[in-house]
Amino acid sequence: INEETIFPKDFLWGGATAANQLEGGYNEDGRGLSIADALPGGKKRFEITQADDFDWTIDASKYKYPNHLGIDHYHHYKEDIALFAEMGFKVYRFSISWSRIFPRGDEKEPNEKGLKFYDKVIDECLKYNIKPVITLSHYEMPLVLAKEYGGWKNRQLISFFERFVKVVIERFGHKVHYFLTFNEINSASQHPIMGQGLVPSNGGNNKQNVFQAWHNQFVASSKAVKIAHDFDPSIEVGCMILYATSYAYNSDPKNQLANLQNNQDFNYFCGDVQVRGQYPAYTDRLLSKYGLTKNDLDITAEDLALLKTYPVDFVSISYYMSTAVETTGITDQTVAGNLMGGVKNPFLEVSDWDWQIDPTGLRIALDELYDRYQKPIFVVENGLGAKDKVEANGKIYDEYRIDYLRSHIKAIGEAINDGAKVIGYTPWGCIDLVSASTGEMSKRYGMIYVDLDDNGKGTLRRSKKESFYWYQRVISTNGRYL
Ligand code: BG6
Repeated sequence: INEETIFPKDFLWGGATAANQLEGGYNEDGRGLSIADALPGGKKRFEITQADDFDWTIDASKYKYPNHLGIDHYHHYKEDIALFAEMGFKVYRFSISWSRIFPRGDEKEPNEKGLKFYDKVIDECLKYNIKPVITLSHYEMPLVLAKEYGGWKNRQLISFFERFVKVVIERFGHKVHYFLTFNEINSASQHPIMGQGLVPSNGGNNKQNVFQAWHNQFVASSKAVKIAHDFDPSIEVGCMILYATSYAYNSDPKNQLANLQNNQDFNYFCGDVQVRGQYPAYTDRLLSKYGLTKNDLDITAEDLALLKTYPVDFVSISYYMSTAVETTGITDQTVAGNLMGGVKNPFLEVSDWDWQIDPTGLRIALDELYDRYQKPIFVVENGLGAKDKVEANGKIYDEYRIDYLRSHIKAIGEAINDGAKVIGYTPWGCIDLVSASTGEMSKRYGMIYVDLDDNGKGTLRRSKKESFYWYQRVISTNGRYL
């Protein structure tokens, strides 16, 4: 029992997933293809550098597409949600597949069968008193919107998204209190394919398009807030930022300055617009890095007024790792898995996939975010991607995962003691699912094991890992048992 970590009584313990990584049923009940369906399995699958490297045709004779099956949650959702309930979840974060509701994305009328699926998922959660937390756009959009409309750089997507959000809010808004707009919106600076639908052949290599896509998404986010609040002012809508705490490698002022700018450009830019309702003062400096000015972007006075009137209600983040900034040439040693670049931090261990493990970085992130925004913070993703071994007795002893989660939960408790208002914690991939960056199943995050391998073979049987029982006890003691 750790008496020092004091979580509020109504702290939102739970877990997080995303439609494209777990549902499967990719072509069932009228669902249209999504951009995630076109991502083949394999490391670096969204680091597409050549225009012709991205194959829009979805040719199953050439590639494997792990997202098509996911973990077949589409047919296992009852069993999966029952397991979440057994762990004691207060909330469950999942996303709605836009192409299940609007198969092409540009239709006037939604696909009723798609909506019915989410009726069932939501009702199943509510049956166990689990509050749904819905991500409106988690790393996917209807494929047509990327292929025929050119992704989020096209302003028309704002109205298509608006229509989608309206349908979702009108259908589910009386049962769901928390919504998130765009998952890890800032990650497009590195990988614009999943969040913005931009590949080299439709302009993904051109930063002007990435900034334009962001602007359109900011406007779409504000429209989502408006739709939700018009429907029910008590609904809370959050932004979602991939936060990687950034350190200067040493006390050299050059590195300190580079680190300040890295924080602004990566960790804060999108949140600053979505939370504060206006472009931050450093926007011109950031754009100038790419030879751009605001005049290169289509930003109207009406857009700016909308951003100002409809900022988000809370801030949500994913947190997996930290990064270190070095510009003076004293080291060029990097870590392969660090999605945000930066150099190796000599004080930190790495995961099997070379992600730097840093629980203190989470405390720093929460303290800084609360200082900056003074809005509630929700940690909606965190976790360790690791290979699990099923023992002869069928058990999975994943103490490495427990260690990771324990240290990060402890860090959240400490941030709360520091004064940060953190409202909940939903570790990523509470049930094993397809990895976003590699498409692997063997990169497992779950407390629930799914018998499925990287080739899509397995029984899909669910079983409880050691971490399942541990997290169950953490929740039942409200974080006192760690
Ligand atoms: C976040 C994403 O980047 O990290 C998730 O929001 C993703 O979709 C998670 O799955 C873990 O990353 P990965 O690449 O290990 O699956």
